[in-house]
Amino acid sequence: MASTRSTFYVTTPIYYVNDRPHIGHVYTTTLADILARFHRLRGDDVFFLTGTDEHAAKVVDAAAQRQLSPQQWADQNAAVFQATFEKLGITNDDFIRTSQPRHKDKVVAYIQQLIKSGDIYQGEYEGWYDPSQEEYVPANKAKEYDYKSPITGRPLVKKTEKNFFFRLSAYQDRLLKLIAEQPEFVQPESRRNEVLARIREGLNDVPISRTGTGGWGISMPGSTDQTIYVWIDALLNYLTTVDTPERLKYWPANVQLIAKDILWFHAVIWPAMLLALGRETPRHVYSHSFWIAEGQKMSKSLGNFVDLEKIDTYVEQFSLDAVRWFLATQGPLGSTDSDFAHDKVIEVYNNDLANALGNCASRVTNMIVKYFDGVLPAPAIGRDDAEGRALRSAAGEMPGRVDSLYDKVAVGAACAAAMDLVRAVDTYIEQTQPFRLAKDPEKREKLATVLYYCAESLRIASLGLWPVIPAKIQALWQMLGVSYDIRHGLFHDWCLWGGLEPGAKITKGEPLFPRVVTDR
Ligand code: MSP
Repeated sequence: MASTRSTFYVTTPIYYVNDRPHIGHVYTTTLADILARFHRLRGDDVFFLTGTDEHAAKVVDAAAQRQLSPQQWADQNAAVFQATFEKLGITNDDFIRTSQPRHKDKVVAYIQQLIKSGDIYQGEYEGWYDPSQEEYVPANKAKEYDYKSPITGRPLVKKTEKNFFFRLSAYQDRLLKLIAEQPEFVQPESRRNEVLARIREGLNDVPISRTGTGGWGISMPGSTDQTIYVWIDALLNYLTTVDTPERLKYWPANVQLIAKDILWFHAVIWPAMLLALGRETPRHVYSHSFWIAEGQKMSKSLGNFVDLEKIDTYVEQFSLDAVRWFLATQGPLGSTDSDFAHDKVIEVYNNDLANALGNCASRVTNMIVKYFDGVLPAPAIGRDDAEGRALRSAAGEMPGRVDSLYDKVAVGAACAAAMDLVRAVDTYIEQTQPFRLAKDPEKREKLATVLYYCAESLRIASLGLWPVIPAKIQALWQMLGVSYDIRHGLFHDWCLWGGLEPGAKITKGEPLFPRVVTDR
C-alpha cells in the first residue's frame, strides 16, 4: 500500500572534518534530533541527515603534518563525529561524508548540468581572499574590515585566478521573490531582513573552482588542474544524499538548521544553485545564533571552551537528557547569543527537571502507590469540578500548541508548552490537596478522580516532552505502566484524554532527576 504519511527532511550543516566536535556542533545536531524525534512521534516519514565537510585545503595540511593522506585523516576524524553523535543519542538516518563517491559523482553531474545551461562559465577573477576562511571577501567589505579577516583578523590577500563562475547575478530577482513569498525560507526574521538587504545591494557572480588543492577535492569538469570550491561541493550534500529513487520523496528539505556564520551560503548561494538546477528550494532555513561560555566568546586560551570532554562531565553529572533539555530551552535559537554558564545549568536543572517534572512524577506515583496500592483508580464519571476541567482543557490544548511551535522550529517554546502542563498538575494538586482527601474515607471517590487526573495529565505532558528527554520519559512511562512504539507515532491520538486504563499498575521508580545541591 502506498504510504500517505508526510515526509519530513531535516539537516544540520556538515561539519569541517578537521575540527573536534564541540558544543556548537552538538547543539545544532541535538536541535535537529529533537525535530526528527518529534516528527517521528507525530507519525511523519522522517529523514534526518548530518555529516562531515571534508574537502577544505586545511585537511591537506593537517594530514601532511601527521604523515597521513587527507583521506586517512578525514576517516579518523569523521569517525570521531560519528561516535560522538552516537554516544549523544542522535538518531540521524544517514551520515554523509563529502569524500564518498556517492556524493562526488552526483556533484560532478550537477556541475556538468550547470555548465551546459550556461549557469557556470569560465572567466578570470581578482579579489580579496581570506585564506583562514577559504573565501573571498567582497571589495567594499574588505575595505570596511581594513583588509583583515572579519573572523580571524588575519590579513586578506589579493588573488587572481582563472576560474569557473556561477552566474549568481542572474538570480537576484528570483531570490528576492522567494524570500518575499516564502517568509519561512529564512528565519528568524532578523536574519531574513539581513539577507534581503544584502541581496538588494546587488549580487556578483561567484568563482566556484580552485587551484592548488593538491588534487584533494572534486575535480572540476572541463579542467585538468582545478577542483570544485569546497563550499559548492559541501552545499550540494543535502541534495546528493537523497537524490536516489528511494529517497527523492524527501526533497525539498523541510528544515535546514544552520548558525549565523553560514547564513549567506545557505540563504543565497544555495537556493540560487537549486533554482539553476531546476530543483525545489528548501521550505525553511533556520539560522540560530552562537553559544558563548561563562559570558565570553568561547576560546581555548580563555579556558572556557565547551568541548567534548566538558560536555561529557555535564552528561555524567546531570544525565544526557538534562544536557539536551538545557540546550533546547536555553539555546540561541533567536538572534541573540546564549551563555553556557555552569550556574545556569544547575538552576535550569533544578527548576525544570528536579522540582517540576521529577518532583511531580514522584508525588503522583507515590500517592497512587500509597493510597491505592499502586493500582490506578477510575475517575468518577461526569463529576468534574472547575479545577478538573481546567486541567483537562490544558491537557487538551498542549498537543496542538506543541505541534505548531515545532512547526516554527520554536523548540524552547515547545518544551515550555509541555512543561506548563506538568506545572498545571502541580497547581491542581495544590488546589485539590489529595493528601487531605486521603484522610477522609468519604472523599475516596474524589481522591480517585484527582489522582487519575494527575497521572493522565502527566502522561499526556510526557508525550510532549519525549523528543527532548526520551530516556527519562521512557522511565516515566514504565512508572505509569504505558509504552509507545515511536516508529509508528500517533502523537495526537496518544494525547487524547483517557489513554491510561484504570487498574493499570503504577510504580514509584527511581527519582527521574535527583536534585543537585551545589558542587563547587
Ligand atoms: N563546513 C561548514 C558548513 C558546510 S554546510 C554545507 C562549516 N562547518 S563548521 O564545522 O564550522 O560548523 C558550523 C556550524 O556549527 C554552525 O553553523 C553551527 O551549526 C555550529 N556551530 C559552530 N559554533 C557554534 C557556536 N559557538 N554556537 C552554536 N553553534 C555553532 O561551517
